[in-house]
Amino acid sequence: MAKMWAGRTDGITDRIADDFNSSIGFDSRMFRQDIKGSMAHASMLAATGIIAEEEADTLLAGLSGILSDLESGALSFDPACEDIHMFVEEVLTARVGDVGKKLHTARSRNDQVALDLRLYLLEEIDAICAAVKKLIATVTDKAECYKATILPGYTHLQRAQPVTFGHHLMAYAMMLRRDLGRLSDCRGRTAVCPIGSCALAGTTYPIDRKAEAAALGFPAIAENSMDGVSDRDFCVELLGALSILMMHLSRFSEEIVLWSSWEFRFVELSDAFTTGSSIMSQKKNPDMAELVRGKTGRVYGDLLSVLTMLKGLPLAYNKDMQEDKESVFDACDTVKACLGVFDGMIAGMRALPENMLNAAKKGFINATDVADYLTKKGEPFRSAYKISGQLVAYCIAHGKVLEELDLDTYRQFSPLFDDAIYKAIDLSACVGNRTSEGGTSVASVEKQIKGIREFLKP
Ligand code: ARG
Repeated sequence: MAKMWAGRTDGITDRIADDFNSSIGFDSRMFRQDIKGSMAHASMLAATGIIAEEEADTLLAGLSGILSDLESGALSFDPACEDIHMFVEEVLTARVGDVGKKLHTARSRNDQVALDLRLYLLEEIDAICAAVKKLIATVTDKAECYKATILPGYTHLQRAQPVTFGHHLMAYAMMLRRDLGRLSDCRGRTAVCPIGSCALAGTTYPIDRKAEAAALGFPAIAENSMDGVSDRDFCVELLGALSILMMHLSRFSEEIVLWSSWEFRFVELSDAFTTGSSIMSQKKNPDMAELVRGKTGRVYGDLLSVLTMLKGLPLAYNKDMQEDKESVFDACDTVKACLGVFDGMIAGMRALPENMLNAAKKGFINATDVADYLTKKGEPFRSAYKISGQLVAYCIAHGKVLEELDLDTYRQFSPLFDDAIYKAIDLSACVGNRTSEGGTSVASVEKQIKGIREFLKP
């Protein structure tokens, strides 16, 4: 069959070319946005006198019939149509007759696809933000449960200083809050209406772009028609924000994989979010965390695909841009799936405080507190640090930990030591004394929790 755009050519294309060119296989998911856009367009055409009111009524009735038939399944997508835009217009014209051919007045698929994609992604951004908020709330609830649970904090994956599990978890709440900020920035630049840019240069018809944009819920319109049809920054920004979000989930996943290993045994995941092995009966594998970590690569790939696709494109629309959709759709689908599973996994995750504390007791993670103790007694920090290091070396040589040395031994290293040293290096005190803003003390973690809960309030 000849294409709708037959004219200059007979519109008969090779099957292979057709299949290659067609996007309906993946852009059909924007059918609601496409129809919504077309309805706003028909109304604007009538309001500006470009078509008659009765014609617009016929178009609107036809479009809403197509929408409900697609939703009910009474109508299915025709893979022979090039894309969702052609499909809707073809069905409309078949149903309402020649007036259907007026819908595309003062419009092009170039501004139409940009509009549909923006409308679609605005909804996706909102859904993703809601899921991120839910996850932040879950992480914060967990942090509250474990605000006084001590575990080693690590640098270089070496035991460094004691922290609370609540403090550690709240670090992720902070990361996720920044992700929301990025998504909301990107939302602002996605909510710019391109319709009325037409093919690239605007139009000779007396259209009302602002009214059409407002009817679609956009607060702003693209101010340059060439930019309007060729701007895909919003896709790149979204993919960038999603890549960073996935990077956070991936780091969190990595910790969960480590923590649930026999080597750490810091947490126990719920049975519902783990899997077994087909041959090793003892296994309880953290597959969800591993998959989230793995899928991060896929979202980065989506970002790289779109960035690379765009880098050499001259203005304005180029067919290369059809490749934007599968990447953004895949990234949104992947991120939503990851957030959903992550939330359930965190909600069911239980800490094993005894194992955490045992690990904290073994790594000389209070060595800094020995140095701080001496510093507060008047020793300059750098020399205090050295004495503390010598004490650690002594402990290692004698198979002891700092808590086990008697006062005489301490005093061989510095006369400034007295009985108070034992209180100063007690792990709860080490944590409790870190009351600086953002520190690991219980009070500070409570403050963080309060701040995040305040932020989450609707
Ligand atoms: N399917 C196309 C896309 O996704 C729609 C725009 C086509 N425009 C054109 N002039 N061929 O980009």
